[in-house]
Amino acid sequence: MAKLITSLALHFLIFLAIASTSIKAQCDYEMIVNTGITRGPSDYKLGVIIEAIGGEGTINTTNLIKNWGAMGRGYTYFLPNSSDKFRTKLPCMPNNFCWIAIKGKKGELNPHWYINNITVSTKGPGVINRMKTFRFLEEIVTVYPDASHGECP
Ligand SMILES: *[C@@H]1O[C@H](CO)[C@@H](O)[C@H](O)[C@H]1NC(C)=O
Ligand SMILES: *[C@@H]1O[C@H](CO)[C@@H](O)[C@H](O)[C@H]1NC(C)=O
Ligand SMILES: *[C@@H]1O[C@H](CO)[C@@H](O)[C@H](O)[C@H]1NC(C)=O
Repeated sequence: MAKLITSLALHFLIFLAIASTSIKAQCDYEMIVNTGITRGPSDYKLGVIIEAIGGEGTINTTNLIKNWGAMGRGYTYFLPNSSDKFRTKLPCMPNNFCWIAIKGKKGELNPHWYINNITVSTKGPGVINRMKTFRFLEEIVTVYPDASHGECP
C-alpha cells in the first residue's frame, strides 16, 4: 500500500513538474505596427487580440501602449509613416499567429488610419521562433468595434 502511494505521489510530482515547466516557459514577443500615410488613434487605450493556430496561447491585451509600448516616454504613437515597436513577455505559444484584431471603444479607432502592416514575432529558449506579417494595406473604415486581419485554419 505504502509503495502504491509513493508511486502515485511520484507520478503526481512528475505531472506537476511537466505542467509547471510548460506554464513557466516565457517568450519575448514583439509587434511592429507600420502606419501609412494617415495617422492612427491618439487615444491610446487600444486592445489587441492575436490568435494562434489551434487557439492555445491567444494573446489579449487591453491597453496596448501601456502594457507593451516600447518607444519610450513621451513618444507619440501612430503618426503617419511610422514604425512603432511593442514588446512583452508571455508564455510561449505552440503554434504560429494567424489572426489579429485591434479594438477600441466607440470612437477610439481613428477612421482613415492607414495601416500598412503589422508584424508579430516571438522567440524563446528551446522554442521555434515565430513571425507573421499581417498586410493590411488599407484604411480603417469602421470606428467600432475592430479592425482585423488574418485567417485561422
Ligand atoms: C510593411 O510596411 C512597411 C512600410 O510601412 C514596408 O517598408 C515593409 O516592406 C512592409 N512589410 C511587408 C512584409 O509588407
Ligand atoms: C508619408 O509618406 C507618403 C508616401 O511616401 C508621403 O507622400 C507623405 O507626405 C508622408 N507623410 C508624412 C506626414 O510624412
Ligand atoms: C479580452 O480581455 C477583455 C478584458 O479582460 C475581455 O473583456 C474580453 O472578452 C477578452 N477577449 C477575448 C477574445 O478573449
